[in-house]
Amino acid sequence: MIEITNLDKYYGSHHVLKDINLTIGQGEVVVIIGPSGSGKSTLLRCMNYLEPIQSGQISIENQPIGMIEQNGKHKEMPENQLNKMREKVGMVFQNFNLFPHLSVRENITLSPLTLGKMNKKTANETASTLLAKVGLSDRADAYPDQLSGGQKQRVAIARALAMKPHVMLFDEPTSALDPELIGEVLDAMKELAREGMTMVVVTHEMGFAKDMADRVVVMDQGQIIEVDKPDVIFQNPSQERTKTFLHKVLTHT
Ligand SMILES: Nc1ncnc2c1ncn2[C@@H]1O[C@H](COP(=O)(O)OP(=O)(O)OP(=O)(O)O)[C@@H](O)[C@H]1O
Ligand SMILES: [Mg+2]
Repeated sequence: MIEITNLDKYYGSHHVLKDINLTIGQGEVVVIIGPSGSGKSTLLRCMNYLEPIQSGQISIENQPIGMIEQNGKHKEMPENQLNKMREKVGMVFQNFNLFPHLSVRENITLSPLTLGKMNKKTANETASTLLAKVGLSDRADAYPDQLSGGQKQRVAIARALAMKPHVMLFDEPTSALDPELIGEVLDAMKELAREGMTMVVVTHEMGFAKDMADRVVVMDQGQIIEVDKPDVIFQNPSQERTKTFLHKVLTHT
């Protein structure tokens, strides 16, 4: 589904992603963990080329995204082609990023309508189905500031799903939430995983990683230091840095 090879990314002279190699299979749930500043968000943003990269390649469903080769030369992909590829990738952020002046329903139907993916009737039906799925059928006409954080994040998930993505990326989707609201968002994500959605999730929710991840990716200082099944990562990690990180996280929750 996503293939990343020899990816290097710099901000100025700061080398933030170092020779990243990672393949994410169809239907896989991959959780990325690691200390603050280790490059988790940057890696996620590179996956749909929201960030330019300096070397390496990223492919989505076997199609390179971002840079293309033409007559032996590498060049940036035209914006329309890039946007077309990004439609396959849904993204959910820590801070919801809903449009405050649009109702819940309008937030969900906006992209499919503007991009001509659906007519109004289909877009509305899709919104209703997705709202039912995230348990918010009764809030279609509410505005974001009338919703709790957990409800806003579930709307953000429904909005991303409205574009019928092939893969969903989550960047700390529960970090901005009060503890009692975290469960409802994780439940919506678990449901999605059970339906077979390919998911890449940056999170500090180790319970989610243990229960739902097919593989856990551990990052530190711009590198992937370890990738394995959750029981290995949590019970018998090979890297000392993984142990140190997990010890810190698990003693603070
Ligand atoms: N737009 C930017 N310009 C310059 N440096 C940046 C930018 N975004 C991130 N960085 C730097 O890149 C490194 C990786 O940041 P990133 O946000 O990917 O880390 P992270 O693992 O997601 O951290 P956190 O857990 O705090 O969200 C950090 O050193 C950060 O300061
Ligand atoms: Mg981050």
